[in-house]
Amino acid sequence: MSINLEKIREIFSDYCPEKGNLMVLLHDVQKACGNWLPEEALKEVSKLTKMPLNKVYGFVSFYSMFSIEPRGKHIIRVCKDGPCAVKDSFVIEDMLMKELDVDMGETSEDNLFTLEETACIGTCTAAPAIMIDDEVYGNVAPESLNSILKKYR
Ligand code: FES
Repeated sequence: MSINLEKIREIFSDYCPEKGNLMVLLHDVQKACGNWLPEEALKEVSKLTKMPLNKVYGFVSFYSMFSIEPRGKHIIRVCKDGPCAVKDSFVIEDMLMKELDVDMGETSEDNLFTLEETACIGTCTAAPAIMIDDEVYGNVAPESLNSILKKYR
């Protein structure tokens, strides 16, 4: 995959070159790169922010929402924290792994979905919860999974 460095420079120009903006900057760069942060993109971020590359990598590796490995077009996150676990989130996780034919952390063969675990996504009263890209789904029932996935296929 070739990286559009001009697009990264465009994104960068939307933000002041301050470290405080690194989170939103990297989020937008990741989106522009197809849900992951290739080395070439991180080098460009390092150059533009004048932040050493190892510091940029350190920042990226600290947050689970960033990935330096290629991921699918859509990221499915299954909440595994207490309230969701009590409401059988493992059943949802198992069904998604079977449906997509992947293990946790893997990407489906068609590159459409990457399946990940996550900590609480803030909708505990509607456990079990999952998140697909920026959309949160609560009270997820096994029989509703196919219709949810259909929206992204
Ligand atoms: S524990 Fe799952 S949303 Fe809070």
